[in-house]
Amino acid sequence: MTEDTIWRLMVTETLNGLSLNDVVGGGDPKAVGALSREVVEAVGAITPRSKVLDIGCGCGRSAAAMASFLRPPAQFVGVDIIPDLINFCRREITSRHPNFNFFALRQESEQYQSFINRDSPTQWIDSLSALDDDFDLVIAFSLFTHLDAVAATSMLDMVWRRLREGGYAVLSFFVLNPFSRRSILAGRWRTAFLPALGTEDFRPATGR
Ligand SMILES: C[S@@+](CC[C@H](N)C(=O)[O-])C[C@H]1O[C@@H](n2cnc3c(N)ncnc32)[C@H](O)[C@@H]1O
Repeated sequence: MTEDTIWRLMVTETLNGLSLNDVVGGGDPKAVGALSREVVEAVGAITPRSKVLDIGCGCGRSAAAMASFLRPPAQFVGVDIIPDLINFCRREITSRHPNFNFFALRQESEQYQSFINRDSPTQWIDSLSALDDDFDLVIAFSLFTHLDAVAATSMLDMVWRRLREGGYAVLSFFVLNPFSRRSILAGRWRTAFLPALGTEDFRPATGR
C-alpha cells in the first residue's frame, strides 16, 4: 500500500452515502492535511518529538499529514464524536504508526447526529478529561465552527486543561465578517450558519 492510498480512501469510503472526506468538510484531503501541518510548523508549535492532541480529528487529515514527521517518542492522539471515522483512522493510521492513537468521544451533536453509531465497536471515552494533561500541542481545525457559544467556552477550558505548561493550542474559528455574512445570506455555505447571524454572541464589534 502506498502512502497516497489513505488520501484516496478518504474520498472513496463512505458513511451514510457521503465520502468520509465530505463528512468532514470536503476539499482536497491531502491539501487540507498539508495546510494544517504548515500552520502548526509556521507558528513553531510542533517539533518531531511533540505530543499532539487533535480534537475533532475527523478522518485523520491532519494526522496523516503529520505521520511521517512525528516519530516515536512523539505521540499523536485524535478524538472525534463519529466512531466510524475513528475506526478508519485506527485501521489506516494506527496500524502503520502505533504512536498515533484515536478515541471516539461520547457526545451529542445536532449537526453530526446521523453519523454517530452508538453501538459501533471502537475505543470510546466519556470525556476529554480521560486524556493526558501534558500535551505539547492541541489542535482543533474546523471544530469551533460547529459549537455554540456555551459549548465553545467549555471546549476552550478543556483545551487549556489538556496542555502542559507552555504548550500551544492552534485552533481555527469561523469569522463572521461582511464577506462571510454576504456569502451566508447568498447561500454559498454548505453549513447553514444563519442562526449565528441573529445572535448577540456572534455580532461583530461594528454592530452590523
Ligand atoms: C469540519 S470537521 C473537521 C475535521 C478535521 N479537523 C479536519 O480538519 O479534517 C469537524 C469534526 O469535528 C467533530 N466534532 C464535532 N463536535 C465535536 C466535539 N464536541 N468533540 C469532538 N469532535 C467533534 C465532527 O465529528 C467532525 O469530524
